[in-house]
Amino acid sequence: MTSEPQPFAPGERIMLQETDGHHAFMVELTPGRTLHTHGGVIKHDDVIGRPEGTQILTHLQSSFVAVRPTLVQRMMKVKRRTQIIYPKEAARIALELGVGPGSRVIEIGSGSGALTLLLATLVRPEGRVHSFDRNPEFQDNARENVTRAGLADWVVFATLDAGQPFGVSGVDAVVLDLPEPWLAIRPALEALRVGGMLASIIPNAEQLKQLHIEAEDAGFKDLRVIEILEREILVRRREGVRPSERMIGFTGYLLFGRKR
Ligand SMILES: C[S@@+](CC[C@H](N)C(=O)[O-])C[C@H]1O[C@@H](n2cnc3c(N)ncnc32)[C@H](O)[C@@H]1O
Repeated sequence: MTSEPQPFAPGERIMLQETDGHHAFMVELTPGRTLHTHGGVIKHDDVIGRPEGTQILTHLQSSFVAVRPTLVQRMMKVKRRTQIIYPKEAARIALELGVGPGSRVIEIGSGSGALTLLLATLVRPEGRVHSFDRNPEFQDNARENVTRAGLADWVVFATLDAGQPFGVSGVDAVVLDLPEPWLAIRPALEALRVGGMLASIIPNAEQLKQLHIEAEDAGFKDLRVIEILEREILVRRREGVRPSERMIGFTGYLLFGRKR
């Protein structure tokens, strides 16, 4: 049995994707508003009330399709005030930490809330993400991104300088994404339950070494560091199939550890 498709509602964030191209726009549907693309203008009113998958023509007859964003698109399209964790690392962090329904997770910093979107999605319906940052303006932006994604009920935001106790205990996982993650190592150990997992993403080898040493000295076990490389493969009907010439060469090292 298939459920009835829900029509697009005013205020909803949707993707308008070129039918035969790669351009994609995330828009918040607002009556009376228009989207200007290279292929012409789309009226939001032509999308509101229509079902997902609707084909929309611009005033220049370019074809777009209206769909709801995937979680990856939501993460990549958050309003950015900081660097974000990309899906390739976010997914691995969630997997290594075993984040799932009911999990209680701490993250510092909130940044722009990109990782928060994934964590909050996974902990539903009973779990919580406790998201800390020392910068209230960044955190307001992260809160807006999380609220727009409909995930505010699963995230508790608080301002905190790394090094202070988190004020939450017995959590299942802690994620550190800040330039000096070692500042939060001891509070992380205190907040975790026995068996709980630690993850950190860090850009420089010197920071990585310091973090590794401080995590080990604090008592974290099973420490492991990986780097994830992702290459897009171009699958083309007429030309050869091969990797794209372009790739994001480096985003960060991932460190994992466990309290046991
Ligand atoms: C790279 S961003 C986090 C990105 C986030 N994970 C995301 O996916 O959007 C790093 C954040 O750490 C915060 N931060 C840096 N140093 C901090 C500290 N000592 N205590 C608390 N937060 C800190 C910054 O304000 C910034 O928002």
